[in-house]
Amino acid sequence: MGPVFVIDFDSTIVTGETLEVVAETCLAGDPEREAKAQAVREITDRAMAGELDFGEALKARLELLAPTREAVDEATERLKGMITPSFARNRGFLEQNADRIWVISGGFHEVVEPVVAAFGIPPKQVLANRLAFNGDGRARGVEEANPLSRAGGKAEAVRNLGLKGEVVVIGDGWTDYEIRETGAAQRFHAFVENVRREKVIAAADHVAASFDEVLAREAPGPKFSYPRSKMRILLLENVHPAAIERFEREGYTVEAAKGALEGAELARRLKGVHVLGIRSKSQLDAEALAGADRLLAVGAFCIGTNQIDLRAASGRGVAVFNAPYANTRSVVELAVGLIVSLMRDVQRKSVALHEGRWDKSAEGARELRGKTLGIVGYGAIGSQLSILAEAMGMRVVFFDVGEKLTIGNAVRKRSLGEVLEEADVVSLHVDGRAENMNLIGAAELQRMRPGAALINLSRGHVVDIGAVAQALGSGRLAGAAFDVFPEEPASNAEPFDSPLRGLRNVILTPHIGGSTEEAQENIGEFVAERLLAFLHRGDTSHSVNLPNLQLSEVSGAHRFLHIHRNQPGVLAAINGAIAEHGLNILAQHLKTGEETGYVIVDVDHEYPREVIAALRGVPGTLKFRVLY
Ligand SMILES: NC(=O)c1ccc[n+]([C@@H]2O[C@H](COP(=O)([O-])OP(=O)(O)OC[C@H]3O[C@@H](n4cnc5c(N)ncnc54)[C@H](O)[C@@H]3O)[C@@H](O)[C@H]2O)c1
Repeated sequence: MGPVFVIDFDSTIVTGETLEVVAETCLAGDPEREAKAQAVREITDRAMAGELDFGEALKARLELLAPTREAVDEATERLKGMITPSFARNRGFLEQNADRIWVISGGFHEVVEPVVAAFGIPPKQVLANRLAFNGDGRARGVEEANPLSRAGGKAEAVRNLGLKGEVVVIGDGWTDYEIRETGAAQRFHAFVENVRREKVIAAADHVAASFDEVLAREAPGPKFSYPRSKMRILLLENVHPAAIERFEREGYTVEAAKGALEGAELARRLKGVHVLGIRSKSQLDAEALAGADRLLAVGAFCIGTNQIDLRAASGRGVAVFNAPYANTRSVVELAVGLIVSLMRDVQRKSVALHEGRWDKSAEGARELRGKTLGIVGYGAIGSQLSILAEAMGMRVVFFDVGEKLTIGNAVRKRSLGEVLEEADVVSLHVDGRAENMNLIGAAELQRMRPGAALINLSRGHVVDIGAVAQALGSGRLAGAAFDVFPEEPASNAEPFDSPLRGLRNVILTPHIGGSTEEAQENIGEFVAERLLAFLHRGDTSHSVNLPNLQLSEVSGAHRFLHIHRNQPGVLAAINGAIAEHGLNILAQHLKTGEETGYVIVDVDHEYPREVIAALRGVPGTLKFRVLY
C-alpha cells in the first residue's frame, strides 16, 4: 500500500479554475462581462500567490458572480471536458486507488463531485465548499462552518481527516503547499502541467510536469503507470514543433536538435535513447542502430525512409514509422493550380509582362469547365485530385493498374491508352516502381489529343523528357508542367538542367509538390501520433518495417509485446511459457512478416513475475515489453 494522495482539483485535475469557469457561465450575456471576469481572475491570482486571504477572496468573487444552479451545472459540464491530459491517461491508476485519494478544492462540492466521480472517487473523499443558495436561487456565499471557506482552510481540512500513514499533496497553489507546511502531509509536489507559480515551485519538495511524474516517484512498481518521465525522446533535424508539443502533452521530455547527425556522433547520441526522430538527412545505418541500446522506435518525419537501414531496424525489433500521405493535399492543390495555369498559358503571359510586353489575347486560353482530366495512378493523390477537378466542372477519366474505388462521377478506363486519347489534360500520379520507367514516351505522347497538356508531379523517371520536349516543339502538346525530373540537383547549391528549359508554355517547379507548411505540420503530428500509439499500446499500424497490428488501449490487463525473428517454434515457446506459469489470457494477437513476427498477449494483472524472464528468454526474441 502506497501513500494517501491529497490532490488539488483546480488547475491540477482539471486544466482551469472552478471559479473562473463558474464566472464564465454566470457572466454569459452580462454587459459588464469582460470587466467582471477580469476582476475575478485578478482576485484568484492574488489568492493563489498567497497575497490575499483566501476566505475574503472567495466571498468577493461570489458576490460579484451570484451564480444560479443552472450556471453551476453548466460549469460542471464544461469542467468534465477539461480534465488535465496526464490525469485522463492515468484514469486506470485513479480508479484502482480511489480509496486512498482525496480531492481538495477551494471551489464547490456541487461542481467537483460529479467531475471526479468519473475516476471512481466518492463524494465523501471530496473536500470543497458548499454553495449557500438564497431565496432568489442565487449563491452569494458558501457554508461558513467549512474550513475551506477560510484562510489556511485546506491545511485544516486535511488535518481534520486524521489520515494515517504517509500523505502526499499534489497541487499548483500556495494553499496546497500549506498542507505540507503545517505538517498535515509529508511531501508536496508542485504540479506545473497547467500553470507554473514560481513561489510555489521554490517551496515544493518535488516539481511534477505531469501526474506521470508524481506516480513515477510515489507509486513505482509494475502495477502502476508507465514511467514516461524516464523515457528519452531525441528529435533531430528541426522536426516540426507540432510533434514536440504532442510528446510533451503526453508527459514526455523531448531533447530536440536542429541539425542532422551521422556516424560516430549519431551513435554516441543514440545511447540510452528510446525514441529517435529524424528527417531525410540523418543516415541511420546498421552500425548506428547496433549501438542504440534502448531504442524502441524511429520516426522518419518525412515521406521516404531510404536513409534508414530498415532490415537492420527490424533485426533489432525497432519499429520505424513515416508519413507517406501527410502531403497529399499539398500535391493535389499544386496540380489544380498547374492545370489552370496551363489552360490559360499563364506562364508565357507572365514572363512577357515581366519583360514589358502587353499581350492581351484570348487565343488558346481555355476554361476547365467541361474539359476532360485524365488521371494516371488513382492512389491517394490521384483520387483526391479527381474530387477537386470535378468540383471545378471537369470530367474525370482515370487508369490505375490496381483495383480502385471510383470516386464521384469519375470514369475508370481499362487502359492507359484510353485515358491518353480522351483527356485534355493528363496528370501523372503513379508510384515509383521500376516498371514505370518511361511510362510516357514518344508512342504514348502520340496517342494524346493534339493540343493536350501533360503534368508530372509523381516521379522523374516516369516520363521520357526528350520525347516531351519534341512533342512540345512540334506543337502536338500545348503545354506541360513538371515538378519532378529524372535527374534532380542534390541541393539548392547545384545547378539544374533539362531539355524542357526555355520551352513555351512549360512550367517547371523544383520538386515542391508536397512542400508546404501544412504538410510539415501534418507530418509532425502523424509520425508523433504513430510513435505514441506504439509506445502506449504497441500499435504498429503504418510501420514500414514491422508487421502492422492495430491495437486498442490496454484496459484492466497487462500487455506483453513480443517482437521476434520469424523462425519456427517461437509461438509455441511463448504459449508454453504462458501456460507453464498459469496466466489468464484475455486477448492475443499475432502477425508475421517475412523476417519478423509480432505477438501481443493481454493477461490478467495477477501473475508470477518470473514469466517475464521466461518470455524474454524465448529463442529468436528481438524485443520484449510489458504495458500496463
Ligand atoms: N511532387 C512531390 O513533391 C510529391 C509529393 C508526394 C508524392 N509524390 C509522388 O506522387 C506519386 C503518387 O503518390 P500517392 O501518395 O498518390 O501514391 P499511391 O501509392 O497512393 O498511389 C499510386 C497509384 O499509382 C498506381 N499505379 C502504379 N503504377 C501505375 C501504372 N503504371 N499505371 C497506372 N497506375 C499505376 C498504383 O496502383 C497506385 O494506386 C508517387 O510517385 C509519389 O512519390 C510526389
